[in-house]
Amino acid sequence: MKGQCVDQQVENEEIEISLLLEAIYLKYGYDFRGYARAHIKRRIMHQMALADLSNLSELQHKILYDRGFFYKILPDFSINVTEMFRDPSFYMTLRREVIPILKKYPAIKIWHAGCSTGEEVYSMAILLQEEGVTDNVQIYATDFNEAVLAQAQQGIYPISSIKEYTYNYQRAGGSGSFADYYTSQIDSVKIDASLKKNIVFADHNLVTDGVFGEMNMIICRNVLIYFTRKLQNQVIGLFVDSLCPRGFLGLGSKETIRFCEHAHKFESIAEEEKIYRKLIK
Ligand SMILES: C[S@@+](CC[C@H](N)C(=O)[O-])C[C@H]1O[C@@H](n2cnc3c(N)ncnc32)[C@H](O)[C@@H]1O
Repeated sequence: MKGQCVDQQVENEEIEISLLLEAIYLKYGYDFRGYARAHIKRRIMHQMALADLSNLSELQHKILYDRGFFYKILPDFSINVTEMFRDPSFYMTLRREVIPILKKYPAIKIWHAGCSTGEEVYSMAILLQEEGVTDNVQIYATDFNEAVLAQAQQGIYPISSIKEYTYNYQRAGGSGSFADYYTSQIDSVKIDASLKKNIVFADHNLVTDGVFGEMNMIICRNVLIYFTRKLQNQVIGLFVDSLCPRGFLGLGSKETIRFCEHAHKFESIAEEEKIYRKLIK
């Protein structure tokens, strides 16, 4: 009897979460319906606790009738953890296997999808500069969270992270001194303006927005992990359409295209680093 009650509670909670996500989509156009349920549930429960709400109906009412509240909690629906040269061996492999190929092209277009606060994008800019790719390269850095995009554009990071970032940079095959790429302020560092010259930051939602140009490389790391398999298929489909033939795709260490319905459209360049290349047909 008690078990039945718990089952019913879980079932009702699932229904209420589905209704809430539907309401958010209909009212604001943000589509979290295909996000992994455990992740989205954690974020919702966190918001309910913060706003001192006792049930999902109250949260739904507040979200629907208080636009300001929705935009205040929106950033919390995404996890923004990132770092410079995250997984250094990924960047080392780009340096050794991918950049030498891209370097031969007359112009290079790179898309960082889900760039968060920008550390990943500046890591790429440093890598390209060290490999002599400074002209005819355009980097598009996008995220659906405007607050993190604004931080990315500023390029200001806590000084406390620099020790770890320097270590990552060296392990990624950095050929200079990491300190040359920033100036120190009191408790933060500012990324050198020269690294920004080829970067365009833009708002783009991978679930609801369209194709992003003819890219030679797309880096989308630690984003798909929050999506269901169905949504992963949809977003990788978007990447297939956004990549030019023989374009590269880089995913996060816990992500793969191996089980996705588009897997046959790619070859693996470095499976352990999750670097793939689009086939011609
Ligand atoms: C964990 S961070 C990863 C940052 C960086 N790519 C890295 O690997 O270090 C995930 C980022 O994906 C973004 N994101 C989540 N859903 C998105 C969507 N539908 N469209 C665009 N960006 C999204 C989040 O806002 C967040 O900044």
